Amino acid sequence: MHTTVGIIGGGPAGLLLARLLHGAGIDSVVLESRDRAYVEQRQRAGILEQATVDALRAVGAGARLDREGMPHDGIELRFGGRAHRIDFPSLTGGRSVMVYAQTEVVKDLIALQLAEGGPLLFEAEVTSIDGADTGSPVVRYRHEGREQMVTCDYVVGCDGFHGVTRNAVPDSVRTTYERTYPYSWLGVLAEAPPVYEELIYAHSERGFALASMRSPSVSRLYLQVPNGTDPGDWPDERIWDELDARFATHADPGWKLERGPVTSKAVLPMRSYVTEPMRYGRVFLAGDAAHIVPPTGAKGLNLAAADVIVLARALTRWRETGSTELLDAYSDTCLRRVWRAEHFSYFMTTTLHTDPEQSAFETRLQLSQLERVAASRHAAAELAENYTGLPLPG
Ligand code: APR
Ligand code: PHB
Repeated sequence: MHTTVGIIGGGPAGLLLARLLHGAGIDSVVLESRDRAYVEQRQRAGILEQATVDALRAVGAGARLDREGMPHDGIELRFGGRAHRIDFPSLTGGRSVMVYAQTEVVKDLIALQLAEGGPLLFEAEVTSIDGADTGSPVVRYRHEGREQMVTCDYVVGCDGFHGVTRNAVPDSVRTTYERTYPYSWLGVLAEAPPVYEELIYAHSERGFALASMRSPSVSRLYLQVPNGTDPGDWPDERIWDELDARFATHADPGWKLERGPVTSKAVLPMRSYVTEPMRYGRVFLAGDAAHIVPPTGAKGLNLAAADVIVLARALTRWRETGSTELLDAYSDTCLRRVWRAEHFSYFMTTTLHTDPEQSAFETRLQLSQLERVAASRHAAAELAENYTGLPLPG
């Protein structure tokens, strides 16, 4: 088999890229190692920047998003016993975000690709990529019990942090940057109506907490926990009690979440990671295959979307004019946005989480920073601009 663009990984990055290329008349093949059910039920992010929403609508995946997505004009910060709302439109010249789960984005894109697009092969595990620095790289994969291969003009690794494409970039040209964090998140899904209109990010000496949502009847909640925490140590009542304790404020000490059955809980480690460059020869990296951010800034899915929007434009320019100018600029173009998102995610994470080892001095610095955001339009605007997403390049 030959294809113009071999896409490794059928997560948001790979699927959106395939749809963007399809719209430009460029054929591709998506190879996904897991089965459809697994990919569609993986609990991940939930915040879409405008550019991501625009891209989903442009590829025809906007109908359910527009019906079921929840536009949000702000978030609430809670710290030092007080609450402060950050209003996005007034601080960013009209920008906002959309709450719509990554699971739903993936379902919509898979349905579209299976209905209209080129091949999307599930349970097709890529084992190697040969000839990255030649004009015809070869992707080898195992599917239906057989070793198979596809020759490509270009290969794009959308295979996430645990994928194989990064290995196609020789160590001699690759630099990686990494930071791990001394805490994780316990992520909880509950059949409990959110009693809050917008997301709440809480700093407390007991640890960070985040209240998000999936629908008017389903809450998505997160608690900072020590690395290596066993979700089994967190029965439902303990989860609810700890969340209420961390969201409590002086103004409304009786504020309580509405409780309901917890339907899923998992411990998520936190990591910052970037691999440079995001290209070697005819092989490109996009999304989590190239970079990881701690989820506090809600950037992971949106960075993946931004990468493939930039790459699809570059591949379209090549197809239409033969020019590789945008392809040659892809890595530097994306890395500028990646590092901005890395910094913002690091800022949100280290400002809002209470490292068990941190000193009282560091806790006061965190509270001072949060007070500054509450008191200054400039500081609040910096947070709002980063959270709602900086404009895409060119
Ligand atoms: N062969 C084929 N597919 C693979 C291989 C392989 N060797 N290795 C991994 N994959 C698949 C995974 O099964 C997964 O479905 O690649 C896909 C990568 O998807 P994601 O990890 O979701 O990465 P990405 O598409 O970049 O989306 C980033 O997902 O992890 C979240 O927080 C992250 O929201 C962000 C988004
Ligand atoms: C989510 O809804 O899963 C979510 C929202 C905001 C974040 C992280 C996760 O910062």
